[in-house]
Amino acid sequence: MEQGVHGDAGEELNAFIGRERELGELRLLAPGARALTLCGSGGIGKTRLALHLVAGLAASFPDGAWFVELADLRQPELVAARIASVIGVIEEPGRPLIATLADALRPRRALIALDNCEHLIDACAVASQLLLASAPGLQVITTSREPLRVAAETVWQVPPLSLPSPCSGDEAEIAQSDALRLFADRAGAAKPGFAIGPANVAAVAAICRAVDGVPLAIELAAAWVRVLSVEQIAARLADRFRLLHTAERTAPPRHRTLRAAIDWSHDLLTSPEQVLFRRLSVFASWPLEMAEQVCGGQFAGGDLAVRDILDLLTALADKSLVLPEPDARGQIRYRMLDTIRDYAAERLAEANEPDQVHAKFHDYVVREVERLAAIGMALVPASWSARVDVFRRFEAEIGNLRQALTYCVANGDAETGLRICVAMRPVWIVQGSFAEGAGWIDGLLSLGTSGLPDNVLGAALVGRAQLALATDPAEAGRHAKAGLELCRADGSEFWAASALNLLAEVALHAGQAAEAAAHADAAIAVASGAGDWFNVGYASGTLGTLAAYRGDLAEARRLGETALQIARDIDQQWGAARALLGLGDLARLTEDYAAARPHYAAALDILREVSARPEMARCLAGLGRIAISQAEYDVARSYFSESVQLSRSTGSRIGVIRGLDSFAALATAQGNPALAVQLAAAAAALREAATLPEAPATRTKRTLDGAAELGQDAVEELWRAGSALSSDAAVALALAESDRSSSPSGPSTSRSHSAAASPGDPGGQPQPAGGLTAREREIVGCVVRGLRNSAIADELGISPATVARHVANIMRKLGVSSRHQIAAWAAGQAATDGRTGR
Ligand SMILES: Nc1ncnc2c1ncn2[C@@H]1O[C@H](COP(=O)(O)OP(=O)(O)OP(=O)(O)O)[C@@H](O)[C@H]1O
Ligand SMILES: [Mg+2]
Repeated sequence: MEQGVHGDAGEELNAFIGRERELGELRLLAPGARALTLCGSGGIGKTRLALHLVAGLAASFPDGAWFVELADLRQPELVAARIASVIGVIEEPGRPLIATLADALRPRRALIALDNCEHLIDACAVASQLLLASAPGLQVITTSREPLRVAAETVWQVPPLSLPSPCSGDEAEIAQSDALRLFADRAGAAKPGFAIGPANVAAVAAICRAVDGVPLAIELAAAWVRVLSVEQIAARLADRFRLLHTAERTAPPRHRTLRAAIDWSHDLLTSPEQVLFRRLSVFASWPLEMAEQVCGGQFAGGDLAVRDILDLLTALADKSLVLPEPDARGQIRYRMLDTIRDYAAERLAEANEPDQVHAKFHDYVVREVERLAAIGMALVPASWSARVDVFRRFEAEIGNLRQALTYCVANGDAETGLRICVAMRPVWIVQGSFAEGAGWIDGLLSLGTSGLPDNVLGAALVGRAQLALATDPAEAGRHAKAGLELCRADGSEFWAASALNLLAEVALHAGQAAEAAAHADAAIAVASGAGDWFNVGYASGTLGTLAAYRGDLAEARRLGETALQIARDIDQQWGAARALLGLGDLARLTEDYAAARPHYAAALDILREVSARPEMARCLAGLGRIAISQAEYDVARSYFSESVQLSRSTGSRIGVIRGLDSFAALATAQGNPALAVQLAAAAAALREAATLPEAPATRTKRTLDGAAELGQDAVEELWRAGSALSSDAAVALALAESDRSSSPSGPSTSRSHSAAASPGDPGGQPQPAGGLTAREREIVGCVVRGLRNSAIADELGISPATVARHVANIMRKLGVSSRHQIAAWAAGQAATDGRTGR
């Protein structure tokens, strides 16, 4: 369902049948069950049922409902990371991710569904217990083949689809049972015009009964109507199941039913179809070209011609053994249901092919990610849209990449794993997945580094250093130095320059200006000699920051503009956004707001494209500060709200603290000194708790001066009260109180919600409804109505691929990952609009 409701596509690809009674029962049960497990054998329909249950419940969870797919995850230790990445929480320096996650969820009335927990049962049990204990408004729904066995778990057995009563003679009534309706739907898709009528109803009922109403088995049987009559299917199945029922009864009955149904379907395949089917089991999901490159050719179990693969894949899709679906870029990818994939993997092992196919898969992955990384990092000429596309590609491939990495760790292949990590590093850094990246690299390095080529180990150490910068600069420095030595020895100039740039930043963090400048200069020398403009631009930005620190603003601006120009010349807009953010900060500090605004706005547009939430929060905060200086308080409040929500959604403590400081400044400006003192005090206490440097004394003084009229005692009391607030309570206070202090109507309110400008516009006015365009809002409306992409496309007269792209953009802008979350967000908007009378 990461392919269904969740963000990867968020769409169900075929009709959901029946289950009205089950859903009715579950909806009654759910409010009283904080941990609800939908339990049942493979293919019984747990995932589909959970999907609909969550969709139906989402509206009761104002802070969000998430569907987290775990089927493809193999490492129990990554369960928290997976939940965090779906919810949009990133780890914070020096804290276990689960604690950040718990903090982010604590104030929320939220629903999390964990799908397919059976292979990670202990880790899921621990994570859900911990989150439920710390977040009183949280509910967890899991699907699993066995119960989690946690306290207060309500286990609900998912029954098979309803079958017609054996005594019923009424054909219409028989055809209305859920099992037969599913058969009719899937058979109709395989063979247009297929319908159940008096002539075939008995045979279809026999098929559904033979497979015990297990939906996956019904689908597999129905897919054959194109080549077999229902009577033939019924007869063949009956033979098969007669055997099944006399066979040794070791597995649970429905499991055996399903296994027999898959066997049956598999045995009917042609030999080349069987060969492709088993080889596809190495992928988490795949586009056609990947299947051609990896599965074609001669292996132990036989040969497969590349030119035949499209037809074979189509044949497997026709038999419901593989599922085609559009990805966020509107392109078709295929996947298998977990049960089917496990079966295919067994067949691969029987054919003695796993090692060869995995090796070819990993060669392909390494080639492909290194090609993508070269585009993303501007090592080869390409347009910015091609570079943005690299991010989307990595998102689409994440399942395959994780799988390849897992295999490398398990099989001691550090070199392949590290090459993949090195290529994935930019995505981890931009999107804030530091812990995931660091975890993989550490795991691979721990396999031993002696046989590794210098260039691979060197690049991996530099990448590891970059991932450590935000959490542990000293450790980052150590890794970078070790990496630098190897890269120099090996002549890897890009990585040597990257290491020097990182060492410059480490020195900058530590306040060692001279050392930072020396490293940045050295980076420029290495990179410009190699024609590596990305690193030249990066180093120029660092030198610009250094110039600003020593008060040479003209030089800082010049260097910032150099960095910007270089990034634009090579069309690496990510670098340009960083430079723009720096120039925006610089212009704002010199009170040149007319220059600062468009810098921030332009940076924000780029950052949104690559979902760089931490930097987006910084940009919005900068825009809000400018709005205060222009007395546009409602505008400032909108920016700060979005900024602090982004920081909160990513679990960034420092982002939230900066947000509280911003709200304090706004409160002072709006003549609410009591609020200002409390928020400043909360920010100061939170800084101390997180062992972050104190805020500049002038800032605190401004707040306290603004509150002088309240009297010394009152200010002290307010400071004490503010210091005792938790981060969430302080944010809630900031949002609620500043809302109250802002004018409910009048010119400034209506201007601040003008639909003409977005935070991305040079005018710098926030746009209502999450910065969505009119078309995107229209599509949100359709999503809320539960329409699929194809239906939205019909309604709006555009292609489904365009709809998929819009949906992906909406998710990126809102920072959500599923259609349910879009719907929940829209419900939240409606509620806010209702409250504010908008
Ligand atoms: N009510 C339903 N309507 C339509 N299709 C269904 C329904 N229930 C299940 N299916 C289909 O049956 C197949 C198996 O369903 P699902 O993946 O939900 O099972 P599951 O119990 O989650 O299996 P697993 O244990 O392997 O995760 C899927 O192809 C699904 O689309
Ligand atoms: Mg499932």
